[in-house]
Amino acid sequence: MPEVPRHVAIIMDGNGRWAKKRFMPRIMGHKRGVETVREVVKHCVDAGVQYLTLFAFSSENWRRPPDEVKFLMGLFMEVLNREVSKLHQNQIRLVMIGDRSRFDPLLVNEIHKAERLTQHNTRLTLTIAANYGGRWDIMQAMNRMLQAHPELSQGFDEAQLAPYLSMHYAPEPDLFIRTGGEQRISNFLLWQLAYTELYFTDQLWPDFARDAFDLALKSYQQRERRYGRTSEQLGKG
Ligand code: IPE
Ligand code: IPE
Ligand code: MG
Repeated sequence: MPEVPRHVAIIMDGNGRWAKKRFMPRIMGHKRGVETVREVVKHCVDAGVQYLTLFAFSSENWRRPPDEVKFLMGLFMEVLNREVSKLHQNQIRLVMIGDRSRFDPLLVNEIHKAERLTQHNTRLTLTIAANYGGRWDIMQAMNRMLQAHPELSQGFDEAQLAPYLSMHYAPEPDLFIRTGGEQRISNFLLWQLAYTELYFTDQLWPDFARDAFDLALKSYQQRERRYGRTSEQLGKG
């Protein structure tokens, strides 16, 4: 049996260009992108992936035109309302990571309700990164740790910081996918991607279908994860 990544993290990019190619407003690309999310979630469940983390809105995306930001916030709310009970029926746990302080209190409340409802589900943990930034994550972790343990200001190690990072409940991603052709991290999971296998595809997110996801899984299966060791040490040389 080929090895299935336990944790897949995805930057869902290219919605705007997908719409533009069709002479439609950018927001139509976001709408269509939700379909791809649904498909990818299903596919992860079928393939046996245990953690799927999706970058939905970065700390920097507030710089977009106000109308697009407003639309995206509305879309989160709409999708939460519509999909949470289905996720729950399918035993999927939903977790949101990111800074919630800038969100509408109604949205914060919906997120909280959805997390509480699905918290004991074990089939797949679906994490949505919204108003998330890798640097924000490291800073909030340090601040919270030092508040709880002021004595650590003298020095601390990775294991002491780890429980305060947003994704403390999950193993580090095995496979990172970015659609849309750009080859950058855009302030996604900086700490957690240290040893993740990176996969980039030109396909735009709304076009990223089942076979495209399979290609990414296949590519992962051909990688050799050495974590600093040599091939010979792994017994494969
Ligand atoms: C990704 O698609 C979705 C979000 C960032 C919310 P984009 O909106 O970045 O699409 P492109 O990159 O402009 O095509
Ligand atoms: C990254 O996409 C963030 C999300 C997909 C949510 P962007 O489209 O915002 O990234 P840049 O600006 O091209 O780096
Ligand atoms: Mg983009």
